[in-house]
Amino acid sequence: MAELGVDQLRADFPILQERVNGHPLVYLDSAATSQKPQQVIEAISDYYLHANANVHRGVHALGERATEVFESAREEVARFVGADPRGLIFVRNTTEGLNLVAQAFARPRLGPGDRIVATLMEHHSNLVPWQQVREQTGCQLEFIGLTPEGRLDLEEAARLLREPTRLLAVTHVSNVLGTINPIAELARMAHREGIVVCVDGAQAVPHLPVNLAELGADFYAFSGHKMLGPTGIGALWGRPQLLEEMPPFLTGGSMISVVRLEATTFDEIPHKFEAGTPDIGGTAGLRAAVAYLMGVGMEAIRRHEEELTDYALEALSEIPGLVQYGPRGVDRAGVVSFNLNGVHPHDVGTILDREGVAVRAGHHCCQPLMRHLGVAATTRASFHLYNRPYEVDSLVRGLGEVARVFGAE
Ligand SMILES: Cc1ncc(COP(=O)(O)O)c(C=O)c1O
Repeated sequence: MAELGVDQLRADFPILQERVNGHPLVYLDSAATSQKPQQVIEAISDYYLHANANVHRGVHALGERATEVFESAREEVARFVGADPRGLIFVRNTTEGLNLVAQAFARPRLGPGDRIVATLMEHHSNLVPWQQVREQTGCQLEFIGLTPEGRLDLEEAARLLREPTRLLAVTHVSNVLGTINPIAELARMAHREGIVVCVDGAQAVPHLPVNLAELGADFYAFSGHKMLGPTGIGALWGRPQLLEEMPPFLTGGSMISVVRLEATTFDEIPHKFEAGTPDIGGTAGLRAAVAYLMGVGMEAIRRHEEELTDYALEALSEIPGLVQYGPRGVDRAGVVSFNLNGVHPHDVGTILDREGVAVRAGHHCCQPLMRHLGVAATTRASFHLYNRPYEVDSLVRGLGEVARVFGAE
């Protein structure tokens, strides 16, 4: 951990100095949203102080500055994930990116007799849009199940990734189990059968080196706010050839070429998918977030989170009555879900909050996965580059307090 210089990094995150309920804040909820470094906060205010104007239409200097901020953010974000910037569409978040694929790619192409395959570990954002497509087109929707450790059942994947499947929707990293799915392998299996692969990268891009050229996904969505950037901005990358063939998702200003009363022609990709004024300030923040992550290095961030996760899994395994979920191994990201001796996760979360420890409690937008695990909810601690082992110790001490209050010892 010395390698990452976490103590210096922490100084970049002003909010980590907050005190909560009389304790120093221990923020273990980065899977919900990450904290933001000063550099990101300043990039957003600099944009509004020195460059604010609308993009792609100003003939004046500020319009040029704003367009430069926006388009250079596209270049940088694409470079960060190893992708062709022509395929990088700015959206609000992962959810919007996945809805774009569902409505502009799947809906016009699928019909009764076709099949979408998703998995049991999907966040509602990568599940409900496909249920909508099923309603709209009459296609089937099936799910790859899980092994007892919480990995995808690859034998079932092989059975489902063939006729009449047209699209695989899969998360790169589970926000509950922490499982890192073998996307490159799944994409190879799918592509052999001509199946298009749509990946939810919300929990991957902030924490792992992601190279879309190597992964081979056809669509890949992620959110700025989980990767040290602001809320309200995210990206969908799509294979340019597919994007060119697709109709637009939202229509109106900024995405057109020529509009006549009878008909409209659309702009080139990616602009065809960016209707209306975008969140330009958000792209300034996201560009700064990507620069920050690249400055620290994604390999180093991954190693740091791996060490912290191992430390947490080990420490939690010593607590009597605590059940953990998710695999152990190199395919495990920095998300740790658990239940404690029948104490409701909301009670666990509330008592931890009294100790200054912020975790998430609930179904984590994964109700089908909760049902599969046989629980209504879990408590989840999740890490980012700024977390330290002593914060895991605070979590463990807080859980001792929960056990004392609920007589669970
Ligand atoms: C795996 C996964 N997918 C999708 C989402 C949705 O992200 P957003 O709310 O930014 O659209 C989340 C957020 O919690 C997530 O963890």
